[in-house]
Amino acid sequence: MPAKPITGSTVRADFNDPIAVVHYARAAHFLGLWQSERLLIERFFPDHSVALLEAGCGAGRVTLGLWDMGFRRITAFDFAEELLEQARQLARERGVEKDIAFHQADATQLSQCHVIRDMLPGMKPAGFGGALFMFNGLMQIPGRENRRAALRQLHDVCAPGAPLLFTTHDRNHSPMERAMWRLEAVRWERGEQDARLVEFGDRYFEDENGRTFMHLPDREEILADLAATGWTHEYDALRREITRESQAVQNFSDECRFWAARRDADSSVRDPGRKPR
Ligand SMILES: C[S@@+](CC[C@H](N)C(=O)[O-])C[C@H]1O[C@@H](n2cnc3c(N)ncnc32)[C@H](O)[C@@H]1O
Repeated sequence: MPAKPITGSTVRADFNDPIAVVHYARAAHFLGLWQSERLLIERFFPDHSVALLEAGCGAGRVTLGLWDMGFRRITAFDFAEELLEQARQLARERGVEKDIAFHQADATQLSQCHVIRDMLPGMKPAGFGGALFMFNGLMQIPGRENRRAALRQLHDVCAPGAPLLFTTHDRNHSPMERAMWRLEAVRWERGEQDARLVEFGDRYFEDENGRTFMHLPDREEILADLAATGWTHEYDALRREITRESQAVQNFSDECRFWAARRDADSSVRDPGRKPR
């Protein structure tokens, strides 16, 4: 039987797998925020009193880090219920559960999450004061249109001017990476790519931490996606340009590119292809 392209359900099942759950729970307990994350959160989220929305919170590594930095109005969501359970447990263990609301939601269908939607009318200014989608979670959504949908949905629940911080890999970050992607381009031209992949730039691999789907964009792709979904690009840099991370962080995660954007003031999204909801 021919292999089927990866969907969000595949990714969710992979994150709910006990091997992945242990990996992310361990990071939430023992690794915490990376130095680069802390520096950029301080820079782009200077007001600790705002309501924050963290997408793809996993087992709570960043969520609990935000609490440690002084944020007290945190809403965090993930579509993988096993990871969320770990995050809830960690918040309870640290006695901080009253400041953090965890919800199960799919970033591409955030408008269907009643709890988050129902929070919006009570917020002043209308919407979250900032959003984060850390450690490449956005790039684990298969299909560019779906990643754009997630960016649009985050736009829709954030207040005008709210910052968004996220990371991606970068297909061009090293000569080795560029050479590898040139070879992969030839495979796609010949139709010889892994049939489970959705688009050029996708990878699906298995290692000791479980199965991982990841889309690796180039810089232009993300700039276009931000512009099409109501976000103004403000900053991007490779992690090594921001700081030198500890060996523990380098072991946990490869090089990545950090992105900061700001939600456009107007509420209409500039993407003509946007479907009315
Ligand atoms: C690489 S993990 C990072 C977890 C956590 N933020 C951390 O840094 O340890 C990416 C997370 O994004 C979540 N994720 C991926 N696609 C998602 C989607 N469409 N909706 C909600 N969560 C999603 C995964 O379940 C996973 O927890």
